[in-house]
Amino acid sequence: MPAERAWFHSAVVYQVYPRSFQDSDGDGIGDLRGVIDRLDHLDALGVDVVWLSPVYPSPQDDNGYDISDYQDIDPTFGTLADFDELLAEAHERGIRVVMDLVVNHTSDEHPWFVESRSSTDSPKRDWYWWRPPREGLAPGAPGAEPTNWHSFFSGSAWQLDEASGEYYLHLFSRKQPDLNWENPQVRQAVYAMMRWWLDRGVDGFRMDVINMISKDLPLRDGTPIDGGPWGDGSPSYICGPRIHEFLQEMHREVFADRAGRLLTVGEMPAVTVEDAVLFTDPARREVDMVFQFEHVGLDHGEHKWDRQPLRLVELKESLGRWQEGLAEVGWNSLYWNNHDQPRAVSRFGDDGEFRVESAKLLATVLHLHRGTPYVYQGEELGMTNVPFEDAGSFQDIESVNYYHAATGQGLLVEEVLDALRLGSRDNARSPVQWDGSPHAGFTTGEPWFPVHPNHVEVNAEQALADPESVFHHYRRLIELRHTDPVVADGDFTMLLREDPAIYAFTRSLDDTTLLVVANFSSEQRAVDGLPDAARWAEAEVLLGSYPSSSGVPAPDEGRPVLRPWEARVLRRTA
Ligand code: NOJ
Repeated sequence: MPAERAWFHSAVVYQVYPRSFQDSDGDGIGDLRGVIDRLDHLDALGVDVVWLSPVYPSPQDDNGYDISDYQDIDPTFGTLADFDELLAEAHERGIRVVMDLVVNHTSDEHPWFVESRSSTDSPKRDWYWWRPPREGLAPGAPGAEPTNWHSFFSGSAWQLDEASGEYYLHLFSRKQPDLNWENPQVRQAVYAMMRWWLDRGVDGFRMDVINMISKDLPLRDGTPIDGGPWGDGSPSYICGPRIHEFLQEMHREVFADRAGRLLTVGEMPAVTVEDAVLFTDPARREVDMVFQFEHVGLDHGEHKWDRQPLRLVELKESLGRWQEGLAEVGWNSLYWNNHDQPRAVSRFGDDGEFRVESAKLLATVLHLHRGTPYVYQGEELGMTNVPFEDAGSFQDIESVNYYHAATGQGLLVEEVLDALRLGSRDNARSPVQWDGSPHAGFTTGEPWFPVHPNHVEVNAEQALADPESVFHHYRRLIELRHTDPVVADGDFTMLLREDPAIYAFTRSLDDTTLLVVANFSSEQRAVDGLPDAARWAEAEVLLGSYPSSSGVPAPDEGRPVLRPWEARVLRRTA
């Protein structure tokens, strides 16, 4: 007998990045009471789960992904009482709340690290990765770092601690030391903290870079990058030798005896489909789904700051392979956007003339795949990338560090700025545009990050009032997933794999088939080679990125014709 279908097959998750969502106290930074005030927006959209980016006490070196206390709320965001109220209010509306779990690293201001650093004999010394300088070199000498690993935020992944003459590992900023998961005390401390949040009523965790927690020992140099001083350490920390063991242990220690509908999603850079099958096979008890990165790397050249246009054929090849790979066992998560990615409509659509149509097209294509869709705040409004003026406009640590590293190496300022304009995480972090007022309804004070000038036209108030808005299109897609089992559970078949502009696929369950056809271009196109085109011509149109009242262009010699950035969902019963 087939296992009971998991509840999250028909669920949609909405990510809140609290800093930029809604400010309630006029300090210019979003907070938990702000999230409470906007729950009705999420309720109107119809989402099932909110994933809250980190709200724990933090020096905010990486906007909260550097946590100094796992069991409290940063005063900037509110209090535990505010958190409990948010949880209760969300639950009242049938919305679950998933926390961000950041346990590959802590802040260097976390008491664990403070103690670890205090002495080489500290009982917590081994909770982090401490290593002496490279043999034969003095601490701090060029090249003395224990390995040549490059940090994700530029420079070495090792920081010298002057007092002890040893280095500690930080894959991200130097204020984010990596925890040593080899140490069982570390693991037990993390599991205890997770149980504490679940006991408080939270509904699961989004696990930050969780496939980096197991390091391959001994730590050793990686292949040099571009002939420079740094090397690629990823073979030593991506899906390391104990990763499955650690996740299974976490499952046993934290989730196994709990009833209820919890959600676990592991963020896993560089994860392959084969790994993902193992991670998400329900029988293995690891996680429900993973965030993979393949499709958001297709417009990268050598690295993320070297951008190239997306080739649709490659996107179809990649997403199609993930659909097929997880068709029988495991489950996909589906996303275009989050707080680390540029805005999808600017990146993969047309944020000028066809902003509304292309935002709806991207939503349609994504939400009709098999998997659990994630909506990042503002995506449902068709928010766009930020018009950054100069180097001073960037705030994100990754962008700021890259700017200094790249210009320091002699790259031209304008070239570096252009790369940042396209790729900076700050694109996703401008405040949510609630209305057309001076600070877009985000704050009554001075916003920590300027609101996008286009908030005058692109905002929630306008979107809710317009039945043809991007918002209402997302609402319909979410409703379709809730009501139509073929969307949640149907088989996926990619069509027209070689077509450079048309994305087409079917979903089938029992005697029902849905066809999704989408024109990823700013020109009208006839769709060549669509199987069963004549029968589909008579099918019911469920949804489209153009208003239904605008009619449908006449077929061209039997071929369906799609307008610029037009997506259609059709339904047929055999
Ligand atoms: C992934 C998070 O999404 C990102 O925002 C953060 O900078 C790194 N992990 C480090 O925690």
